[in-house]
Amino acid sequence: MFEVVLERIARGRPERSLVLTGLRGVGKTVLLNTLRSQAIGRLWGTGKIEARPDQSLRRPVTAALHMAIRELAPRHRAPDRIDEFLGVLRAFGARSVPDNAKLRDRWNPGIDVPAARGRADSGDIEIDLVELLTDAAGIATDVGTGIALFIDEMQDVPAGDVSALCAACHELSQTGAPLVVVGAGLPHLPAVLSASKSYSERLFRYQRIDRLDRLAADRALSAPAAREGVEYEPKALDALYETSGGYPYFVQAYGKATWDHAPRNPITPGDVRVAAPDAEAELAVGFFGSRYERATPAEREYMRTMAALAEADDMDTAVATAEIAKALGRKPASLSPARDALIKKGLIYSGERGAVAFTVPHFGRYLRSQPAVDA
Ligand SMILES: Nc1ncnc2c1ncn2[C@@H]1O[C@H](COP(=O)(O)OP(=O)(O)O)[C@@H](O)[C@H]1O
Ligand SMILES: [Mg+2]
Repeated sequence: MFEVVLERIARGRPERSLVLTGLRGVGKTVLLNTLRSQAIGRLWGTGKIEARPDQSLRRPVTAALHMAIRELAPRHRAPDRIDEFLGVLRAFGARSVPDNAKLRDRWNPGIDVPAARGRADSGDIEIDLVELLTDAAGIATDVGTGIALFIDEMQDVPAGDVSALCAACHELSQTGAPLVVVGAGLPHLPAVLSASKSYSERLFRYQRIDRLDRLAADRALSAPAAREGVEYEPKALDALYETSGGYPYFVQAYGKATWDHAPRNPITPGDVRVAAPDAEAELAVGFFGSRYERATPAEREYMRTMAALAEADDMDTAVATAEIAKALGRKPASLSPARDALIKKGLIYSGERGAVAFTVPHFGRYLRSQPAVDA
């Protein structure tokens, strides 16, 4: 499907770009990298960004487009057009620090062409992005392909930059410029984008990435095992799907532990049971614990309350913020700082007004299994 998107954009046809959404560990980053490979396979210039809260897009976009243009440059007939663009790119990037910044704070993008003046350097990110991306697309047009800019963790792009990015994408699609922004992020990313520009729904095609279905999860386990001449008993696959819930990250964790434990072929449900605590211990440290540690005591208390309230249906579905306040005996407004900080840290998200959910699958289950010692 992405191939079709690339084909249409290369022909200057209007096409919505793709945004992948889903919980942590469902495979968005892996998929984004696959899409990037597909674009490279079609000789597109590509660059990738991992957005971070509080970090302006300027530097990462500069680096990503530098990469994309370097891929196209050898096929371009006019080297001075490339240099011209690099001058604009450098000027765009240089805007990330104030003009009067000390030398040591100036940022060196590794572009060895002097900064140009008068394009993409106004300091208004919206104007500058439109100009920069238009010029980059022009280079791609010259070589008969396109540019794909991949943005992972897109929900972390600062609000002003998101709005500028949407405006730039809008402009590019209107003019049929062959540049596409492909994003990936947490489930509330569509809400973030539409809050920023109401027309974003027409700009992006949202693709929700969910857990693997039974067939895909079984295949992820059986195919590599078969290459080693090993099989899973059907009941072992039942047990693995039950514990992993089909989440790719968990399929891997439980699958690996089982593989390491199993004494003989075929692998049995007993092997899965024996190995599960090992996988859980590893997940508790690496996947859950490392995230839990980012939270302050007040934020941990907030999440524990969330987890306790979500237990009713054991699905870690969204919990009403009013319920959390009630359970803690606090005024809802007094909990906003904890909630906002947890959203910023990427631990919870608000997909619907007045409700929050964990970004990490099985996080509530993990918290409920932990003794309430710290805080
Ligand atoms: N389709 C898939 N089948 C099996 N495992 C997968 C699949 N997609 C991703 N994975 C594995 O799941 C883990 C999480 O993938 P990742 O792309 O980092 O998730 P996300 O970016 O959504 O948090 C990785 O270890 C990856 O190798
Ligand atoms: Mg990821």
